[in-house]
Amino acid sequence: MKKISILGSTGSIGASALDVISGHTDKFQVVGLAAGENDELLHLQIEKFKPSVVALFSDTGTEKLKRKVGDKSVRIASGIDGVIEVATMSDADMVISAIVGAAGLIPTISAIKANKDIALANKETLVMAGEIIMRELNGRGRIIPIDSEHSAIFQSLSGEKKENIRRLILTASGGPFRNFSKEEFKDITPEDAMKHPNWRMGQKVTIDSATLMNKGFEVIEARWLFGVSYKDIDVLIHPQSIIHSLVEFIDGSVIAQLGIPDMRIPISYALNYPDRLENALPPLNLVKIRNLSFERPDVEKFPCLTFAYESLEKGGTMPAVLNAANEVAVSSFLKREIHFTEIPVVIKETMDSHEVCSIREISDILKADKWGREYARDLIKKRN
Ligand SMILES: NC(=O)c1ccc[n+]([C@@H]2O[C@H](COP(=O)([O-])OP(=O)(O)OC[C@H]3O[C@@H](n4cnc5c(N)ncnc54)[C@H](OP(=O)(O)O)[C@@H]3O)[C@@H](O)[C@H]2O)c1
Repeated sequence: MKKISILGSTGSIGASALDVISGHTDKFQVVGLAAGENDELLHLQIEKFKPSVVALFSDTGTEKLKRKVGDKSVRIASGIDGVIEVATMSDADMVISAIVGAAGLIPTISAIKANKDIALANKETLVMAGEIIMRELNGRGRIIPIDSEHSAIFQSLSGEKKENIRRLILTASGGPFRNFSKEEFKDITPEDAMKHPNWRMGQKVTIDSATLMNKGFEVIEARWLFGVSYKDIDVLIHPQSIIHSLVEFIDGSVIAQLGIPDMRIPISYALNYPDRLENALPPLNLVKIRNLSFERPDVEKFPCLTFAYESLEKGGTMPAVLNAANEVAVSSFLKREIHFTEIPVVIKETMDSHEVCSIREISDILKADKWGREYARDLIKKRN
């Protein structure tokens, strides 16, 4: 029986992970759950999965949860310390890291330090602190990616030598605005941006997908997970989201992983690696799909993708600043404080004003994150 803790259990990935686990209770036991503030859903999850420790980041949420939960065998912790407690509990063999954004960094790094295997969805952790994370991991547990693109590359690299890789090719659906003219971009609302053509995801990652920032983050994530230079990572628009990513080898062979766009597939692969789990999902029907198409990303319309490469080229604290500025800009867009077209402007201006520092420890990242957030917030204030 593999014992699992889930960070971000009330989110889209967390719920899909629990759905996978529900179908395989002979193999997995949920021992810990952590979330931000959704006490109602966490309460339902406690009743169904009976974890021994849960945590909510929000103190108010924790108080409400304590009033609801009659079962005294569940320990209810709160705040960042509570989330870390779930991330590091001695009972857990594997931690699913599925908190959204920078809030996932410290819990994930704590789980790594506690020698846990990590099923990683929270890409921001590697965007902000890839070098430190990979250093901390050395000789400890493993990271098995949940992101569908990285799961595809991980699977395509099975049994292959790293030195035989020519390049990694990440596929992207292109999001809801792939065919929009630049002129049409200015009228995009949060509701429009939330209509992803192929995936149902949390708010922030859906907006990141619409700007292609998500794909840029995935380039950074791939750089660290697979130890490949960013110069050898390409992005290809593939609107059907059937080929989840590809690896080209030095002999010209290309290996890809295909499947229906359903996150329960990469989640179950990560949970049960290296074995596979059977499921009742509909099989991939290529005859019905008929055509798979590909095009280059239009970086003039979607400049956020280039910011990711630029941040890797600059190195040091720049990717953390990119992430911070993006989180602030996306949150402001969702609150209708800025237009969709201003998201890349805020990020670029923040990056251009940042003096890159080298990174020795996690506090260097946290400092850069704070600086990036404050700078981006000031910019937005000045624009309004
Ligand atoms: N969704 C996908 O299909 C998908 C695919 C690939 C990768 N990812 C990545 O997976 C991560 C999660 O995405 P998602 O779509 O599942 O996001 P989501 O639906 O917005 O869920 C986010 C989760 O994080 C929790 N959370 C937020 N702040 C927290 C904090 N300070 N402490 C503890 N928990 C906190 C939320 O709790 P509350 O609900 O209580 O606020 C929720 O459980 C992101 O990094 C995303 O890029 C997602």
